[in-house]
Amino acid sequence: MMVDTFECIATKLDVRDFAQKEVPSEIKSRILESARLTGTGLNTQHWRFVLVQNKDNLKKLAEDSTSGGWVSGANFAVIVLTNPKYRFHLIDAGRVVQDMQLAAWNHGVVSCVFTGIKEEKLRNDFGIPDELSPSIIVGFGYPARTIKGRKNRLQLDELVFYEKYDSSRTA
Ligand SMILES: Cc1cc2nc3c(=O)[nH]c(=O)nc-3n(C[C@H](O)[C@H](O)[C@H](O)COP(=O)(O)O)c2cc1C
Repeated sequence: MMVDTFECIATKLDVRDFAQKEVPSEIKSRILESARLTGTGLNTQHWRFVLVQNKDNLKKLAEDSTSGGWVSGANFAVIVLTNPKYRFHLIDAGRVVQDMQLAAWNHGVVSCVFTGIKEEKLRNDFGIPDELSPSIIVGFGYPARTIKGRKNRLQLDELVFYEKYDSSRTA
């Protein structure tokens, strides 16, 4: 499967129900490679990625979360660690998860992210050092069922201003 970039963005949904089917290691490598190739502010590449694919560890990851219990059913997950000494580190985190998610969807692999964590437990369980922040976690797998459904998004005319923001606009 090879999807046009716009089509890939337009059809991607965040999916939390996964089939019990293994994602081939070549696809996992492609996803990690897309992370590596993503740009960081000042090209610092301060991030590190923890690949979690062992079932018991995925369960642990779910237990260490407050909003990502679904990750126990994922085929694998990536914990994105970024260095908070850079003020833009969360922007870097957002860009890299999106790139990984799109690279995955290009191969029919769905994903979802979560940010709600029990930080101390997560740090202990996954050996995360003090200087790195577990900014966002992404779980991947094949979808449990056919992906359908419309995106629930605002319309462009509600989102876009031309040349200047207009606070009197009500739309
Ligand atoms: C910064 C960020 C944090 C998110 N945190 C969570 C989370 O903690 N748990 C979760 O299940 N989904 C989380 N999501 C997924 C959003 O709920 C999802 O992207 C949004 O509802 C749109 O989904 P859709 O693309 O399938 O329409 C997060 C998404 C983003 C971008």
